[in-house]
Amino acid sequence: PLPPRFRVPLPVPPVLSPVRTDGTTDYYEIVQRVADLSILPGLRTEAWTYGGSFPGPTIVSRSGRRTVVHHRNELPQAAVVHLHGGHTPTASDGYPIDLILPAAGAGDGTPPMPDMPNMPMSAMMGDTRLGQRTYTYPMNQRAATLWYHDHRMGRTGLGVWRGLAGFHLVRDDESDALPLPRGQRDIPLMVTDRSFAADGSFRYPSAATAGVTDAYMNGVLGDVILVNGAPWPVLRTDPARYRLRLLNASNARRYRLELDPQPPGGAALVQVGSDGGLLDRPVAHDALEIAPAERFDVVVDFGRYRPGTRVRLVNRLGSGSTVDVMRFDVVGTDRADDSAVPDRLARATAVPDPHRAAATRTFLFHRRSDGTWTVNGDPYRPGRALARPKLGTVEVWRFITDFHHPVHVHLDPFRVVSRNAGDPGAYDAGWKDTVDVRPSEAVEVVTRFTDYPGRYLLHCHNLEHEDMAMMADFTVG
Ligand code: C2O
Ligand code: CU
Repeated sequence: PLPPRFRVPLPVPPVLSPVRTDGTTDYYEIVQRVADLSILPGLRTEAWTYGGSFPGPTIVSRSGRRTVVHHRNELPQAAVVHLHGGHTPTASDGYPIDLILPAAGAGDGTPPMPDMPNMPMSAMMGDTRLGQRTYTYPMNQRAATLWYHDHRMGRTGLGVWRGLAGFHLVRDDESDALPLPRGQRDIPLMVTDRSFAADGSFRYPSAATAGVTDAYMNGVLGDVILVNGAPWPVLRTDPARYRLRLLNASNARRYRLELDPQPPGGAALVQVGSDGGLLDRPVAHDALEIAPAERFDVVVDFGRYRPGTRVRLVNRLGSGSTVDVMRFDVVGTDRADDSAVPDRLARATAVPDPHRAAATRTFLFHRRSDGTWTVNGDPYRPGRALARPKLGTVEVWRFITDFHHPVHVHLDPFRVVSRNAGDPGAYDAGWKDTVDVRPSEAVEVVTRFTDYPGRYLLHCHNLEHEDMAMMADFTVG
């Protein structure tokens, strides 16, 4: 039986306080541990958490100030932390075999990662630590909505499904100077789907080897929609503008999000940011299509609704229980609102010119006839680079798909240049780190490789495809 909808208030994940700060750096500590959460009424759900909650605590960084996060792993299994959207030196980027093994006594004895076809276990031990690890993020990047999540080889889908995901926001002077809604009216929304067994436990169909059992080849979908970890929650809003930082942290589900009812005149979702931060100019949408790992930062003016209106956020790609996402009840009385959405948001950033690209490369994301998920014909193997871009140069990368694959590139954000040889799509605006490539599409992006040489990843962010080795290294030289 599914839990009732629209009963619980929307939780907002707590902001983590640094344990220490100095002139250049903020230091944080997170303990990864099992926690019993109450997600469904009357039941307990054993989760894997960052610091005891799902989502984990929100880290808020200042652009240009270093953020150091010390993780201690008290989970029963190995872990890897990746800051998604982070412009991060390779040693702290969360390479999938750079494990944090469970702290003494915490492990349940299972191997640190599952057997991967075609890969000896000896090839799968990277820079591995026992019990703890410190990740250093320079944060030389624009204000943006980032997130951190597990990235263990072959088991990322399981780790995230069980709760290993949290927000990491970056702020900067440019975004602070804008009159966008702030404080209580600036809310991160992590949208996920999960399914549960009758006893309340998370249900996830892990295969004995990496990835999932055959029935879940297109990714694991749930029948309960959680926003910030709560099933179909409700937010009571004032009749005023809100900034909603939407993140699709689902393993495999895509959404087409819409407000129902639409306010008079429509175009209720005014996009001000994408994965990589502020857009140059706002873009108004009636609906937003959001693939796994994408972020859309939107402003919604609930003052356009009659007081008392209950506004559902719905998913037009869902059916049955996955149509509803959450509800906004416009029942607050504080009309005071000095926010605005200016026509000009970010100072124009230097977009790399695709005509100046030092190289154009094609990456084919497809499932081989033997059932293997591949990039350019091969399943992932750590250490084998599919591309060697030079530091400081611009390249055009073309992603071609068979099925639906949200393609994510680590290190530097990109701009979408074309979709199927035409203009970018309605949801491709701004700096992106994940692009929604639908079945049999070809999408070109342009990026510049900056600051940090070394080994990075590109992969499908359908986490089950990722775990089944639809991933590749590239090495910036
Ligand atoms: Cu959000 Cu390589 O991942
Ligand atoms: Cu995929």
